[in-house]
Amino acid sequence: MEKEFFDAIIIGRGLAGLSAAIETPKNKNTAVFFSEKIHEKNSSSFKAQGGIACAIGKTDSIEMHFQDTIKVGAGLCNENAVKILVEKGKEKIKELIDLGFEFDSGENGIKLGLEAGHSKNRILHSNGDNTGKEVTGFYLKLAKEKNIHFFPEHKLKELIAVKGTGKAVVFENKIIHFNSLIFASGGYSSLYSKSTNKESFGEANSIALNAGIELMDLEFEQFHPTTIKDNNFLLSERLRGEGAFLVNDLNEKFMKSIPGKSLATRDVVSIEMINQIKKGRKVFLDCRKIENLKEKFPSIYSKTKELGLKIEEELIEVEPAAHYSIGGIKIDLNARTNLKNVFAAGEASCSGVHGANRLASNSLLEAIVFGSIAGVNALKEKKNEVLKKEPKINPIKSGTDFNLSFLQELMWKYTGIRRKKDRLEKALKEIKKMQSNNCTFLAEKIIDSALKREESRGCHYRVDFLETIKKPEHSIIK
Ligand code: SIN
Repeated sequence: MEKEFFDAIIIGRGLAGLSAAIETPKNKNTAVFFSEKIHEKNSSSFKAQGGIACAIGKTDSIEMHFQDTIKVGAGLCNENAVKILVEKGKEKIKELIDLGFEFDSGENGIKLGLEAGHSKNRILHSNGDNTGKEVTGFYLKLAKEKNIHFFPEHKLKELIAVKGTGKAVVFENKIIHFNSLIFASGGYSSLYSKSTNKESFGEANSIALNAGIELMDLEFEQFHPTTIKDNNFLLSERLRGEGAFLVNDLNEKFMKSIPGKSLATRDVVSIEMINQIKKGRKVFLDCRKIENLKEKFPSIYSKTKELGLKIEEELIEVEPAAHYSIGGIKIDLNARTNLKNVFAAGEASCSGVHGANRLASNSLLEAIVFGSIAGVNALKEKKNEVLKKEPKINPIKSGTDFNLSFLQELMWKYTGIRRKKDRLEKALKEIKKMQSNNCTFLAEKIIDSALKREESRGCHYRVDFLETIKKPEHSIIK
């Protein structure tokens, strides 16, 4: 096997990975490995429609952004992490603008959109609903100016760690040694059959756990209420921020009496929609009152057109889908895992910044902020001794060449929005019968965490435990 060495290795080239990579100083080299089949177009950051939350409005403040994040996080946020997010986030957005990145602006400066859970209009966009694509593309350009080596089509197989230190990563036919490693490998929403993500199976989380890295809060999967029925295409929450609303096939505005109405937080809207669907109702998004929809939402407009839907004239049937993995690789405020020289950032990680429910459009901000923290710290790591002989390890089978759709159906049906002990146990029993691999391994851990959390909190909704426990605790998987 070919052997190579890099100062820092980054797994994933979404926004968190790129934000870490651009911290590479002149005298260091960084390697970015990623496995996406259509490269950047499959990264969740690239596809993000919503935007970036940042308190730049005249009547807004960092404190208000902090409070909104804490409130939506339902008692489980790490306040120090949230403080870093909102403070450093604002600095990073200013830096981005100084570097020439353009957010959508009007006569009164940068336009600020509204999404659920925000007490102010504070969502910055670029090229309408293409913010993820624009900002990821911008970071990619910055990264290409540095000593960064990109390795596409490299799927991580394994992490070798010895006595609390990460040593090397294993790919199909390569072992790469490193001083430091950053997981920026995304979430695990694709483990659910209905999902806005396509290639996010969380395999790297299983690999990390297998190497002794702790995971946290896996039960908190955030479901997004509005995807096109049976298509999984996201209809951004900002549509509702611009005046779209939910209605059923009896023309009832079923969110009318709920605080926040159609723009209540995602957990609330998703549960109400599932209740409607269980009663036999169909749910629709009415976007007909939005002015200049085509200009504000170019990619949603063209996608719906491609599907033969006239979003400006007709109701669009919608349903919730798994959208964002709050849980992941446990990190501290320096983006460190419990392995000495291994870091994580973005959706792959869990710092507690989102608590039990993520505030809309905080994820790109998190990717930028914690990606940068991970990059700065990882690139300061001392020289790592290269292993003379690789120790024997027990890799878990990787890849999705098994009955993936059976697993995804189980996850959606039994561990989705409405959870209950007997249904979670049924899913677990079925999964244990499958041949173990990175996906089933992680799915089992998600269900274990969901079973242990005997309460309803944020996006974890237990129909058999509706109460919220007074003193919340994180779920740690070792
Ligand atoms: C959306 O556009 O509704 C998604 C934004 C997000 O997930 O933060």
